[in-house]
Amino acid sequence: MTVLFRDIAELHTFDGFAKKDGRKVSEADFGTLKNAALIVEDGRIQWCGPDRKIPPSLVKPVRQPARQPGRLPARQPVRQPVREISLDRALVMPSFVECHTHLVYAGDRSQEFELRNQGVSYKEIAARGGGILSTMRATRQASAGKLLERAQFALDRFVEQGVTVVEVKSGYALDEAGELKMLQVANKLRRARIVTTFLGAHALPPEFGSTSAYLDFLVGRLLPKVRRRKLSSRVDIFLEKGFFERPESESYLLAARDLGFQITLHADQLSLSGGTDLGVELGALSVDHVLQIKEEQVRKLARSSTTAVLLPLADLYLSCPYPRARLMIDEGVRVALATDFNPGSSPCQDLQLVGLLARLEMKMSLAEVLCAYTFGAAAALGLQSEQASLQVGKRADFITLNCGLNELFYSPGRPCVRSVYRDGALQ
Ligand code: NIG
Ligand code: FE
Repeated sequence: MTVLFRDIAELHTFDGFAKKDGRKVSEADFGTLKNAALIVEDGRIQWCGPDRKIPPSLVKPVRQPARQPGRLPARQPVRQPVREISLDRALVMPSFVECHTHLVYAGDRSQEFELRNQGVSYKEIAARGGGILSTMRATRQASAGKLLERAQFALDRFVEQGVTVVEVKSGYALDEAGELKMLQVANKLRRARIVTTFLGAHALPPEFGSTSAYLDFLVGRLLPKVRRRKLSSRVDIFLEKGFFERPESESYLLAARDLGFQITLHADQLSLSGGTDLGVELGALSVDHVLQIKEEQVRKLARSSTTAVLLPLADLYLSCPYPRARLMIDEGVRVALATDFNPGSSPCQDLQLVGLLARLEMKMSLAEVLCAYTFGAAAALGLQSEQASLQVGKRADFITLNCGLNELFYSPGRPCVRSVYRDGALQ
């Protein structure tokens, strides 16, 4: 099926972000075309350019089949039906990629939020059996149906904001049945492309006496099952003092890599614990949080293909400093932004607020934020050759806007996205 999208006042292809591999980008990389059109075939971009230059050849001529035996077949080429859609003079840009969420969970932690505001720290709450373990208890008890209903509700909130790819982690059951249940639920979500990540190594569950015994169980039993059942091809770990420390994390991630998993880490969030160094050494797709890192880690990241995923909502909720985005970007690190949506450190799904914090608190330019939430985030998931810029051959995942690009990440609460297309289909 060929679809011709017309009446596009401005088409921001973001091809410059792709050409620069998401590093040191600027407004000159928006790749803007005025009065443009877009041709999509079978969900992929076949052509984009000025409306007046739509190539007639792309509206493919096909021959009519012979009508009756004995009669000459019609030899005249006829035009294949092309569906034409007017985008009503809209502004068009690639859809957003949300590359770090803990979307599947049960229960809520609003009481803990109040405790934290009264001065009890995230780590103290965790040590008292709250935090991740409190969500673990609720998630273990919840049925798959209930989890799916809640997660789909939350996923729809992302789609409304112009997101077509969502990463979803396990890590709130911390036992075999529950972790598999979480991944199965994530894989059933509709209306966006889902990338699942196995985060069994999120916290130590009460059934195990030591983190090393628990990680042995994950390697020996759960990881092979996750792989065999094709529930996820990515492994994450919360590498942090008091959770999983560097040496055991390294053996765990090496074992995961040997089993064919791609690697990502919750790295250097609460303290400089070695997660970024290890991630770069192991060729991780991303290191996430990274607010405690120093110049040395920034330079290592800049020379690597690992993406730094910045999660400023978690920093806001935990009253932490924000990551040094300016230093990272100026040194040539590819950065991504995400909500980290979860019931503890970031009970918020607002992409506009993420970008606003990046602009206000991390001094990122608008172009840097736009790149971090499209190309950078796709790179964090290894999907940058598939999407996040509107170039021939890539997926036709794009959004139309009610406002100019300059009004994005500026006024949270004001809906800016008019419509969302995934693989060229309206969501
Ligand atoms: O990304 N840091 C570890 N994991 C989550 C928080 C999980 C939770 O508090 O439930 C995070 O911040
Ligand atoms: Fe997280």
